[in-house]
Amino acid sequence: MKTQVCIVGGGPSGLMLSQLLHLKGIDTIVLEKHSREYVLSRIRAGVLEHGFAELMREAECGERMDREGEIHEGFLVSDNGAMRRVDLHRYSGGSSVVVYGQTELTRDLYDARDRMNGKVVHNAEDVALFDLNTDKPYVTYRDGDEVIRIDCDYVIGADGFHGVSRKAIPKDVLREYERVYPFGWLGVLSRTKPVSPELIYARHERGFALCSLRSQVLSRYYIQVPLTDTVEDWSDDAFWAELKSRLPDEVAARMITGPSIEKSIAPLRSFVAEPMRWGNLFLAGDAAHIVPPTGARGLNSAASDIYYLYHAMVDHYAKGDDTGLENYSAKALARVWKAQRFSWWMTMLLHTFPDSIAYDCKLRQTDLDYLFSSEAALASLAENYVGLPF
Ligand code: FAD
Ligand code: DHB
Repeated sequence: MKTQVCIVGGGPSGLMLSQLLHLKGIDTIVLEKHSREYVLSRIRAGVLEHGFAELMREAECGERMDREGEIHEGFLVSDNGAMRRVDLHRYSGGSSVVVYGQTELTRDLYDARDRMNGKVVHNAEDVALFDLNTDKPYVTYRDGDEVIRIDCDYVIGADGFHGVSRKAIPKDVLREYERVYPFGWLGVLSRTKPVSPELIYARHERGFALCSLRSQVLSRYYIQVPLTDTVEDWSDDAFWAELKSRLPDEVAARMITGPSIEKSIAPLRSFVAEPMRWGNLFLAGDAAHIVPPTGARGLNSAASDIYYLYHAMVDHYAKGDDTGLENYSAKALARVWKAQRFSWWMTMLLHTFPDSIAYDCKLRQTDLDYLFSSEAALASLAENYVGLPF
């Protein structure tokens, strides 16, 4: 088989790029390791920044998001029981975020690819990348006993943190920066009315908690748990009791509980791989960088990679201009590191660290008190949360 751009990974990054390039007449093939059902069963991001929502519209996939997604102009922060509000709209100069689940957004992208006869191969096994540093790169995958080869101009590594693309960059070229946090998030999805119309980020001495939502009948809650915990350690009852204990009494009192329809633990990690281009391989999204979920930046960082790559590819194919491709890694990394800084800061601010000394605890408290006493600090938080410009 032959294509212009072979995209490894059928998550939001890969599908979005495929859809955008298709609309500009550029041919792509997406290779996804798992089945569509599996990809759509993963419950992940819930908060989309303005720039991501714009990209969905440009990809002609924004119709349901605009209909069913909720615009949020602020969120709440609870500090050991005391609640304060961050007015995103006011402090970001009129911006906001969209609450719309990654599952729904991925479904919309798959539907669009189907509508346009896009080539998305599911259950592509043993994907391998070859001759990336030449002008004739190719990718192979296995379908049963058959090995299929795809010749292309460019390979996009959009296969997430555990994918194969990043590993195809030689060790003496690739530099990895990583921080692993000593806890994870236990997440529960339940068919219940959300406890609050706006998200609540709760700091508590027992650990962090987050009250989020997917719709007015679907709640998403998280609690910080030790890395040694497993999902089996947490019955639904134990989860609800622990969540309530970390929230202000009046919020806990009105919490509607119910059976979990999904329960999973995500470890928290900060990670960046540099460079994001090697030869004719370009990394995008979680394949190149991971943030702890606290600042809701992960998918949103993927969006800027896709935006830069999309424009770079269009410039290459339509105008023969390779400036965008040449600058891609430096440009993408500049924004990626800002999202890293913000996510790290939100994580440090709101979580309980098992190895904190008294000095660290005092500083964390001072940081939070300063935030709510300073218009400049609130403006900085709001600017980052709604998303820095691409
Ligand atoms: P992925 O979604 O990981 O997609 C990669 C795809 O590649 C997968 O489908 C995988 O099956 C496939 N693949 C892997 N290996 C191979 C291979 N060898 N061959 C072929 N295919 C392969 N972000 C936000 O912006 N806002 C939020 O509110 C938010 N909340 C989050 C909450 C949680 C609990 C978690 C875990 C994450 C959250 N994120 C959030 C982060 C967000 O989900 C990710 O950043 C996003 O999924 C990245 O998309 P991606 O397409 O780059 O990677
Ligand atoms: C969600 C996840 C986040 O990491 C976050 O900061 C906000 C919301 C969510 O899954 O709803």
